[in-house]
Amino acid sequence: MKYLVLIVGIAFMLASCGKSGSLVVKSPDKNVELSFKLVDDKPVYSVQFKGKDVVLPSAMGFELKDKNPLLGNFEIAGSRTSTFDETWEQVWGEKQFIRNHYTELAVYLQEKDGEQRQMNIVFRVFDGGVGFRYEIPEQENLSDFVIMDEVTEFTMAGDHNAWWIEPYQHDRYEYLYTKTPISEMDTVHTPLTMKTNNGLYITLHEAALVDFASYTVASLGNNRLKTDLVPWSDGTKVKTGAPMKSPWRTIHVADKPGDLITNYMVLNLNEPMKYDDISYIKPNKYMGIWWALHIGKHTFWEGPIHGATTENSKYYIDFASKHGIPLLLIEGWNPGWTEEWYLDAMHEFDFTRSVDGFDLTEVVNYGKERGVKLIGYHETGSNLINYLNQIDEGMALYRDHGINDIKIGQVGSKMNMKEWHHGQFGVNYYAYVLNKAHEHQLAVNFHEPIKPTGLRRTYPNLMTAEGARGMEYNAWSEGNPPNHETIIPFTRLLAGPMDFTPGIFDVMIKYREGRRVHTTVAKQLSLYVIIHSPTQMLADLPEHYDGHPAFKFLLDVPVDWYDTKVLNAEIGEYITMVRRDRNSEEWFLGSLTNEEPREFTVSLSFLDEGRKYRAEIYADGDDADWDINPTPVKITQMDVDNNTQLDIKLAAGGGQAIRFYPL
Ligand code: NOJ
Ligand code: CA
Repeated sequence: MKYLVLIVGIAFMLASCGKSGSLVVKSPDKNVELSFKLVDDKPVYSVQFKGKDVVLPSAMGFELKDKNPLLGNFEIAGSRTSTFDETWEQVWGEKQFIRNHYTELAVYLQEKDGEQRQMNIVFRVFDGGVGFRYEIPEQENLSDFVIMDEVTEFTMAGDHNAWWIEPYQHDRYEYLYTKTPISEMDTVHTPLTMKTNNGLYITLHEAALVDFASYTVASLGNNRLKTDLVPWSDGTKVKTGAPMKSPWRTIHVADKPGDLITNYMVLNLNEPMKYDDISYIKPNKYMGIWWALHIGKHTFWEGPIHGATTENSKYYIDFASKHGIPLLLIEGWNPGWTEEWYLDAMHEFDFTRSVDGFDLTEVVNYGKERGVKLIGYHETGSNLINYLNQIDEGMALYRDHGINDIKIGQVGSKMNMKEWHHGQFGVNYYAYVLNKAHEHQLAVNFHEPIKPTGLRRTYPNLMTAEGARGMEYNAWSEGNPPNHETIIPFTRLLAGPMDFTPGIFDVMIKYREGRRVHTTVAKQLSLYVIIHSPTQMLADLPEHYDGHPAFKFLLDVPVDWYDTKVLNAEIGEYITMVRRDRNSEEWFLGSLTNEEPREFTVSLSFLDEGRKYRAEIYADGDDADWDINPTPVKITQMDVDNNTQLDIKLAAGGGQAIRFYPL
């Protein structure tokens, strides 16, 4: 695919000087306003949206190890304002053509005396928010340095409600969200989404996280939030040197929650694609010898019910082949799996040999004859010393077998039992592995990943990632309550695609007494529209799909989109989205709710004017209820056009999925 730039416009203008000597720039639509000034020689910025305060004047800068901080004693040596406007094409994604339109303010700061060190701050003001980064240019009095703290603050205009998960936990990002006022938060992960009392939705996150620690958000009291960089085990935060560019700190703002979802600022703040050959990168659906391992039908490790056998692989391949599902993931195929595989330890997996009972070449060839390719699987157990020793041979093995997709897991609370997954060490590890995968023509699905920050634009073999509580938790824990899927679209999913692994039809999990999925079956279908992932799992067992009338939707729904719209939403309550297939004129609707049943009417005005469509509707059955009656799905058809007002009825904990195809 050719990387296509449709319109590019760059213009330079003078920064306007606002009240009290601030530099002020506005978004192209003038709704977002960014102000910058020095207060007592210290850099301070603030953000407004439609005249409402988003960020009150807030501090910026760094504390350094054994060096004077880069916090104050500055003067503005210069500034430059410009505008930029281009539309670029995604290799794959939730929208094919993305407009990157912003006003930029670059401020060149220099210390007034002493070492006269330089630090630039670049702001990009979009219609949906602001991104800014620090740039430390090459200079005489600052070469290598170690960041001990980043003091970027986000002073909120009130004690907003926020949805958050805590960092520095055993299970990384895999937690349920808590909703409280920010005064009751301690330190939390980004994306951090807040709702204000005056009707705004604000998200803090970051873009282009490269060779830096990720930031978490610390609440300092009095509505002051601050970047809290994830430390190395030695207590330092970032080991770096001039020239340096920090990741972009992003502040998204909207007056409708759905606008947070269709805001492409994080992607726009990343560099254009750096690869030449992307012919091996293909969005697709997959099945897996996976759910059976989590619910206890099979084991990861060898034994009487081992999952990754040649025979069982053929059973899955036959089913996938019959239904045109092009990919199969097989976990537990290699030496190293034990019943204790998930405990913190330096597990020693072998990435070049198969266990007895699994013949990789035979399985690959069996699949090839039937149009099903394998997805490779590397579980590192976070013993990266062991993994990186074998990564080349391990990836080459797949490449030699014609495999182009790989899932890579990092189970463990710390990498090498020492470093956080989300510190600079982890960030650089994931970048290294991604690059290695590209060398071996492998597209990656990271589990236990670093949070996405839009790097998929630059490196599109970064297909999808876990990094939240996915389906697996329903198999072996108290599970995810029905409201979970009404929160993640506005938190984790704002960061990028997620391998949530939806599609469980046997919601009562007959292999695991006392465990279940907190959903209706119709809601499982809706997840394929709500959760964007260019590789999307059909997670349940073949025998649970076989002959099920709702399975057709999973076969029909695409994974790569031309466009995405949010029809209605309230965080933690419900959401309805539509997406148009990238490879056809079909539209798909997904709607889901928390524990509350709901009815609403949506306009189908997104459909082409003057065209008739058939709607295939997969709704909760009349008496469906996630708790007491989760399985009935009512499948109906009706003809619609773009004037149709469609009534949607969702059961408690339910959902609805619709395919619209032109007649
Ligand atoms: C955790 C991953 O999220 C899951 O998908 C995988 O099956 C297990 N680790 C085993 O590696
Ligand atoms: Ca996981």
